[in-house]
Order: sequence, then structure tokens, then C-alpha cells
Amino acid sequence: MKRILATICLLASALIADAAGEKLNYGLTPQIMNIQGRQLTCLDGDWKAIVDQFENGYYDYRLAPMADNRAFFADNSYWRNPKRLVEYDFDTDMSLRVPGDWNTQMEKLYYYEGTIWYRQKFNVEPKPDKRYFLYFGAVNYEAIISVNAEQSVKHTGGYTPFNFEVTDILRQGENTVVVKVDNKRKPEGVPTVNSDWWNYGGITRNVYLVETPKAFVRDYSVQLKKGTDNTVEGWVRMDGATAGQTVTVSIPEAKLSAQVTVDAQGYGSFEVAMKGKKEHLRLWCPEDPKLYDVEISTASETVRDRIGFRTIEARGNELYLNGKKIFLSGICMHEEEPYAPSGRAWSEDHARTLLGWAKELNCNFVRLAHYPHNENMVRVAEEMGIMVWDEIPVYWTIHWTDPDTYANAENQLVDMITRDHNRANVIIWSVSNETPRGDERLAFLTRLIDKAHEMDPTRLVSSAMEKEYVDAQGTHATCVDDLAKVADLMSFNQYIGWYDGNKEKADKVYWTFDINKPVIISEWGGGAKFGYHGESDIRFTEEYQAELYEANVRMLDKMPGLAGSTPWIIKDFRSPRRQLKGIQDDFNRKGVISEKGEKKQAFYILRDWYATKK
Ligand code: GCU
Repeated sequence: MKRILATICLLASALIADAAGEKLNYGLTPQIMNIQGRQLTCLDGDWKAIVDQFENGYYDYRLAPMADNRAFFADNSYWRNPKRLVEYDFDTDMSLRVPGDWNTQMEKLYYYEGTIWYRQKFNVEPKPDKRYFLYFGAVNYEAIISVNAEQSVKHTGGYTPFNFEVTDILRQGENTVVVKVDNKRKPEGVPTVNSDWWNYGGITRNVYLVETPKAFVRDYSVQLKKGTDNTVEGWVRMDGATAGQTVTVSIPEAKLSAQVTVDAQGYGSFEVAMKGKKEHLRLWCPEDPKLYDVEISTASETVRDRIGFRTIEARGNELYLNGKKIFLSGICMHEEEPYAPSGRAWSEDHARTLLGWAKELNCNFVRLAHYPHNENMVRVAEEMGIMVWDEIPVYWTIHWTDPDTYANAENQLVDMITRDHNRANVIIWSVSNETPRGDERLAFLTRLIDKAHEMDPTRLVSSAMEKEYVDAQGTHATCVDDLAKVADLMSFNQYIGWYDGNKEKADKVYWTFDINKPVIISEWGGGAKFGYHGESDIRFTEEYQAELYEANVRMLDKMPGLAGSTPWIIKDFRSPRRQLKGIQDDFNRKGVISEKGEKKQAFYILRDWYATKK
């Protein structure tokens, strides 16, 4: 009964959320998918910036929001006319690099949580037969944006892309975009106020001006038809099209081409099979990460993408890729630069280094925790044959009964799936991490899992749950979360040897599960400071971490239904919860690699274990 009530209150509150959605996002346009395949002007570089801790540039002294032409969006300058009372000036203030977090760019911003205003000027000669959008890869956490101090737009959520149309407000020549970025943590936020990672604020990913035809292909799906290896199916979604317009989807190397006629909503679907009876597609897999050139064309544009074709299935407690049983030899990652200053990662180079380390570990899988990483990570992993667990930051003590919190979580889930749904290497969508069990939480997460299944029936959907002991003395372990009945996997975190007993405990624990689903240990491990050596019973020595890994590997090798493992974590990362001077120094030390790229003893133990899984 309690669960039914929880579901009813959540559904009822969802109606309120739609009305209250304004608090989270307004003025945005649906996400333009495959942004790299579009006509782009990159706005990355040094932006002018103003720290505004009391949001004086947005609220008046009675805390009422000011009109855009009076707020800092107006980009006034005192020095252009000192006879007017203007108390800010972008031109004479500081600069910040975009993409990038502000915390690692300036000592005085290391701990800063609040508003910083960014301004960039750019030149464009808008064409009458084109449309224009501004696209942000991510802004943490809330962005309010105005171009030429016209109607502002808002986006909430620190790890997903968003765009809005600027066709009617662009001027010939110089234009100005001003962004109010606020990274303050909020109890009702997603994530909420407590997390074990640094709250990096800023415009943390690429910014583009996008030029499109009046009617353009905004999104599309091109997938292998389940149960075949020679048939491709999918859909296209145009923006600004009229019913009857045609789109051609072609894969030249496979000699496949389909004509799609869109309806009044710009939507059309297709299915096309290879001609020859014996012909089939080369299916994407870690050993052969084959990507096909795909062209989506209309009379006025051709959008190019590189797409892999594969199937992923759970059969009982086993995982199958293209009909072949697989083990996910993985590692967890935060989105942090591989080397100093260890701020937010965003570039292809960052991705190649981090994923190169995963390959050295003999990994075929990475858990991108605890939020969607930049698109470079997903696409470089796809090229390298590394499968991906993609996750939204529904983390720890989220507000389960707040309709805005649910709407925010669902927005971020939809944005993540929209961006990555054509990536063959993404095999798991995750809706949460380590959330405390309860009826409201189960209703909240079940709704997210249903939404993910509805948007994308081709992938597995799960969450990082938590372990339990069956017996009082803590030797018989399991995971009994009701969420596992709704998820496609039995995936959970366990820290035997670190938070739960000493490293020897792992040799005394055995596991059983009452659900017949593939088991993934989505976190395990312990900490060590690189170069700190001593007796192996001393915490934070490399020796302790190494023996903890050895004991956990022995335990995992005996675990029934184990289909994957992603120890926590590839690299030491910054966290406000790790204050032990001389050992942690604001870094969570559970990495198998230090924040300077130094490999700890545990790295080689994990690498050698995964070598046996090949
Ligand atoms: C948790 C959590 C991680 C955290 C880790 C740790 O399982 O999911 O975000 O960093 O444990 O405590 O190091």
C-alpha cells in the first residue's frame, strides 16, 4: 500500500512539475544530436568573467530578478560612459578559459561556489536561408543565458548538453553572449548537496554557434534490427519540416540506402536489409570496434556520423554481446583531467589518455561515474572498443518526493540518452548510485527506469545499488534491493576490506543472490597514496591496497553470476571529503593511478586479473 501511495504522490506531483518546469529550464530547443556533424563556429577560448557572489547582476536589492537589459546581460561598461552609474565592467574584469572549470584556473576560485558571469563576443554574417542555435556541451550547474541582452534562457543540470535558437536575435557583425553560471549545491538538486567529488563550476565543455537549414535533421536513430546481422532500422526527426519531406539514410560501405518520408511532426521511420543473402554487417565489438560511415541527407544538408552495429542482451545471469557471452572487465572513472591541475576533463586528448590507461588494464568496459561525461569520452571509447556504463547524478540522498527533483532527473536522463543513443559502445544506462532504499525512492527510480526503457528498448538499464549481509556475523553477503527486480542487472557497490572490515575479510565472505540476473560489482577497492610504502596492514600504503585487490579478486572469482566488475577508480580524484593532510590532500586516493599518472601496485594486480578474463 505504501508503495502505491508513493507512486501516486510521485505521479501526481509530476503534473505539478510540468507546470513548475520553468524553475529548471525555459527557452531551450530540443537537443541537436551529433553536434560534431553540424556546421559549427566554435566559441571556445578566453571569455571575460565577473565573480558575483551575491548575484547583484541578476537580483535587485529586494531580491527581485531584473530585466535582461538591466542585469549584467546588458554588458554595460562604466568606462565607456563614467557619467552613468554602472558598477561592473566585463572589459576590465578577469578572463576564464572555456571549456574549463573555474576552481583549478584561479587559486581564489578553488573553493568558490556561487555565480560567475561569462561574456564572449563573436562575429557572424547570418544567412537568410539558415537558422542559428547556441549549443553548450555542459555548464555546471545552472545557466541563464542571453544573446545581445535579448530574451534569456535557462538550463539546469551540470553534465548534459543544451541548445536554444538565436536566429531572430543575431545581428550582422558583432554579437554578445552573456552566461550567468551558478554552481551552488541545492538540497533539491540532482545531485543534491552531498557528493564525493569536487563541485567544479563553469562552462566546462565546448560552446558552438550552429548553422542549420530552415528544415534540418535534428535527431535520428540508426540501429541493427534485433535478431539480424544484415538489417538496419531506425527513425529520423526533422525540425522545421513539412509533412512529405524526404530524408535519405545511407551506409555506402554496406550498400544500404533508405528513403524516409516525414510526417507533420517531422518524424519518419525506416528498415532496410542488405541485398545478398550471404551479406552481413561487421558487428561492433571490443576486438573489432567497426564503425560505418552513415549519411543522413535532405535536399539542403548531409549530416555525417560513424555508427557501430551490435546487440546487447541479458540472458539469465549472463551477458551476451552479438550473441556471444562476455565478461565486463571494467574500471570506474570520474571526469577529471588525467594530469595536473586535475580539473574537469573535456577534450579528446583527455579522453585518449584516460581510456588508454583503461586499455592498459585490459579493460573492455568503463563506468563513467556519476554523471554523463563529455561526448569525447563516449566517442573515443567507441573507437577503442570500450563499452560504457552511462549514468545520471541521482546520487545518495536525493529528494524523492520533490516534483522538481524528479523533473530534473528525468530531464538529465532524456538529455543523456538523446546525446548517446547512437553509440554502439553504450550498453548500460544507469539511473542512480547508492541511494537509500525506501518506497518513495523505489517509485522515483522505477519511473526513471521505465522512461529509459521507453526511450531506448535496445539497451540495459540499471543502477549502482548496495550490498547486504544475510547473517549477523557478516560472512554471507548478497544484494536484496527491490530495484533489482525492475533493473536489467544486479549491479551494486561493495567495499569489503576498506569501509567494511580489513582486507583479510574478503577471504571470509561468500555470496548468493535470489535474482537470476547478471551481477556487476559497480564499485569495490580501497585507497593508497602513491609511493607510501609500509606494512601491508597500514591503511593508505600501496601494499595495503594491493593486498586488498588480491583478496577481492579471490572473492570475486567465486561469486555466482558475476558478469562484470568496475573497481573504484582509475585515478585519484579531488573531493571535499578527503582532508587527511599528507595522504589525501583533497584527493580520494582509491585510484589505481595517482593524479600525476603514477601507477600503484594495485594497477598491475587488476591488469593481470583482467588478462585472465580475455
Ligand atoms: C561510494 C560512492 C563513490 C565514492 C566512493 C568512496 O561508493 O559511490 O562516489 O567516491 O564510495 O567512498 O570512495
